Amino acid sequence: MVNTTDFFSQLANARRSVRAYLSTPVSDALLQEVLMQARLAPSGANLQPGALIHVRGTVREALSENLVEAWRQGREEVEDYSYFPKPMPHTLRRRQVAAAQALYGALGVSRDDREGRDAQFERNFRFFDAPVALIVTMEHGFGSGGYMDLGMMLYGLMLAAQAKGLSTCAVGAMASFPNVIRKNLGLEASSHIVCGMALGYADPDAPVNQTTTARCSLDEYFKVMG
Ligand SMILES: Cc1cc2nc3c(=O)[nH]c(=O)nc-3n(C[C@H](O)[C@H](O)[C@H](O)COP(=O)(O)O)c2cc1C
Repeated sequence: MVNTTDFFSQLANARRSVRAYLSTPVSDALLQEVLMQARLAPSGANLQPGALIHVRGTVREALSENLVEAWRQGREEVEDYSYFPKPMPHTLRRRQVAAAQALYGALGVSRDDREGRDAQFERNFRFFDAPVALIVTMEHGFGSGGYMDLGMMLYGLMLAAQAKGLSTCAVGAMASFPNVIRKNLGLEASSHIVCGMALGYADPDAPVNQTTTARCSLDEYFKVMG
């Protein structure tokens, strides 16, 4: 029998958000295997909220062009759901800054290099040129529980991909332009845009993929009472 504890530990420890990919294609069969495994995630009342759209070819190109254009123009849309606490508490702000420093540090982009930071940010809207680009949606009406369920599925997807030698990066930046995405993909207003997902084979030589983030200590989020 497979020692699942160790196997999980290997996967969870090896997974990183990957922001540069080889052009090696991912076969439809392999992608489907990953998706089928992600579907095994639990959800409240087994509602299995959310859906994934694989954007390809000219649809993907047009979507990325329009997203980049919207972002360059500084267009502001009302997002379908709120993400960060406003205002951001100091502890969380410190974690956010550390993650940004890890990313830009790996790239050698300094704090005041606006152009360098913008160039990296723009790559969000191109799914970091990953061979597979997914848009994650959820039907209007779900509360926070739906997002919790969907998050489990997405982590399942990341680890299922990792187990097959693939890498991923969630792209929350996509949620800034839900109308651009809906218009490009012909989606109803009731289809909420949650995030994007890049998937493919990591480019091991890309400096951006040397980004490493830390986690808070166990006692910061785990307490024993009684
Ligand atoms: C829901 C979600 C949205 C994210 N959105 C972005 C994004 O828009 N751009 C980006 O570069 N990274 C994004 N990330 C990656 C996080 O920055 C990353 O998970 C975090 O810094 C921890 O690093 P790790 O994934 O390498 O462990 C996102 C991650 C999650 C889970």
